[in-house]
Amino acid sequence: MKLSIIGSGYVGLTTGACFAEAGHHVLCVDSDAEKVNSLKAGEIPIFEPGLEALVKKNVAARRLGFTTSTEEGVDHGEVLFIAVPTPPLEDGSVDLSYMEKVAREIAQHLSSYRVIVDKSTVPVRTGEQVARTIREHARPGVEFDVVSNPEFLREGSAVADLMKPDRIVIGGNSDRALALMQKIYEPFMAPVLVTDINSAELIKHAANSFLALKISYINALAEICEVSGADVKKVAEGIGADRRIGRGFLNAGLGYGGSCFPKDIAAFIAISEQCGQPFELLKEVQRINDRQLNRFLDGIREALGTMTGKKVAVWGLSFKPHTDDVRASVAVELVERLVAEGALVSAYDPKAMSKVQELPVAAKIRLAASALDAAKDADVLVLATEWPEFASADLEALRSTMNSPLIFDGRNLLDPLAVRDFGFQYRGIGRGNVAERG
Ligand SMILES: NC(=O)c1ccc[n+]([C@@H]2O[C@H](COP(=O)([O-])OP(=O)(O)OC[C@H]3O[C@@H](n4cnc5c(N)ncnc54)[C@H](O)[C@@H]3O)[C@@H](O)[C@H]2O)c1
Repeated sequence: MKLSIIGSGYVGLTTGACFAEAGHHVLCVDSDAEKVNSLKAGEIPIFEPGLEALVKKNVAARRLGFTTSTEEGVDHGEVLFIAVPTPPLEDGSVDLSYMEKVAREIAQHLSSYRVIVDKSTVPVRTGEQVARTIREHARPGVEFDVVSNPEFLREGSAVADLMKPDRIVIGGNSDRALALMQKIYEPFMAPVLVTDINSAELIKHAANSFLALKISYINALAEICEVSGADVKKVAEGIGADRRIGRGFLNAGLGYGGSCFPKDIAAFIAISEQCGQPFELLKEVQRINDRQLNRFLDGIREALGTMTGKKVAVWGLSFKPHTDDVRASVAVELVERLVAEGALVSAYDPKAMSKVQELPVAAKIRLAASALDAAKDADVLVLATEWPEFASADLEALRSTMNSPLIFDGRNLLDPLAVRDFGFQYRGIGRGNVAERG
């Protein structure tokens, strides 16, 4: 099938590449000319495992192309996926101006039947709004349908998630559009859930909110573990083994960040308030999340006496491992707050260094060449993103390069007993006194 994706960022580009891999002919549209030019030149603007090979393979097979022209996109695809940003406004509600702009652009070029798919994460009832905008700006009589098809991929494993999804959610009320959508997803052999548009839109916010709830739940438990001498990792294992609960998203740490969870939880709270049914539970989820970084920084400050002039090594800057995405990264916020308190920060990330260089904080820290280099002469090592390579660090070399043997592990990645054997003092999140117990 001929498909167009409007907005070729983390979601759009990866989705486009996977659709092409499934045999569709895909045109990826993006208004960022620099991005499109680099894609045309064979450069992939983001890091996502397996993406580069997939893009190159499908470009070579002439199933994947790039353009800045929405008109070309509308002309090419029988189905048009919108994957543009839906950032938060000051009050937490969703800025739908990108969606609206694309809807108007599509409308202007519509000349025959098209299915327009909201792939971006949008508030319930946005599909109705998009349909109204298109109707208003399209030439009279032109046929189209709007469908909701929320995306559940995880950055860091987006290609695998798209190629083998747990489920596909398609919300729509036109048989013609639903039949085309089902055909697109046939090669993926995944369970398809067909709903009305509003339910599909709500499923996305409800899913992300539930995952955030699990994270805040385990983080709140971690606080209890800390004061009661229990180990939150064991507690997570114990409750996660129950199939009704599941082990996923029960990792205590610095809290959730990234371009989705914080904005989606804020959006769902705003949506619930707009509907007159305030979702109070989610406000507590947010509060617990906000507390995590404060508590962690309090611990570091207390251990060092003061932050001023202290050398702090930070391992990990991306918002999670296996991605270069630093948008709303808790690790970056941690660095900013350390710098604001007068600490001298050396930081390293396996993939995100070039994205960090674009941030204002980059000018105020030392960007190290390796994890060990970041730790040179450090008074404390802070682990902020759980990249696997940090778990297998050479602890002997680390011990001898640091000024003081102190580790704050914000992701509970390291083995407290192993690091203690190398003479380190270790502080994780909710690990009770594991390192002392031996
Ligand atoms: N990143 C994720 O993990 C993820 C997962 C699921 C859902 N989502 C949702 O998907 C949407 C996109 O997220 P993303 O992370 O891919 O964002 P992104 O910023 O990486 O990509 C968006 C792209 O849209 C382009 N764009 C903006 N306006 C445009 C226009 N008028 N015409 C053409 N292109 C335009 C931008 O240049 C950018 O390349 C958001 O709603 C997000 O919440 C994201």
